Amino acid sequence: MTQIQMNMVQIVFSPTGGTQKAADAITGTWREPVQKVDLSDAAAGFSAVRLGEDDPAVIAVPSFGGRVPALAAQRLGQVHGGRARCVVVCVYGNPRERPRETDGKTCISCMRCAAICPQSARKANSALVAVAARAIKKACAEQRRNELFC
Ligand SMILES: Cc1cc2nc3c(=O)[nH]c(=O)nc-3n(C[C@H](O)[C@H](O)[C@H](O)COP(=O)(O)O)c2cc1C
Repeated sequence: MTQIQMNMVQIVFSPTGGTQKAADAITGTWREPVQKVDLSDAAAGFSAVRLGEDDPAVIAVPSFGGRVPALAAQRLGQVHGGRARCVVVCVYGNPRERPRETDGKTCISCMRCAAICPQSARKANSALVAVAARAIKKACAEQRRNELFC
């Protein structure tokens, strides 16, 4: 039997990882390697993503207020679908009761939550920002030459 080479694609917007888990559970059953497109990645260029007609895709997004997050929809709109067949997954439910609270055990202060929250619910602690700004200003006071560490 002739084997047809297909590119399996996963296109996911998953700020806190739940949607990613759901997408992985689906594509984990596929035998071919899966190409992953992370719609949460602000640095990625989505218009360069082109699916072929024979490239099955899983498109997975969370529900925010009963809708696809606008940022995810906008980035997904840049992808060239190429008439590919796709499975659409929407993950919802179990929102945390106090979304403004930070879990100190898992938070690494990367600020991703503040950067992507559509409700602007998360903000940096201004006292911490002031301390960090002072430390950075001091460290950057004089220009340094590049150094190579081997
Ligand atoms: C701003 C916001 C709005 C949400 N709105 C809903 C909603 O209307 N209905 C619902 O069932 N879940 C809602 N949720 C819960 C998410 O859909 C759910 O936690 C999802 O798993 C988050 O996906 P992620 O882990 O990939 O970020 C909301 C979550 C957030 C952060």
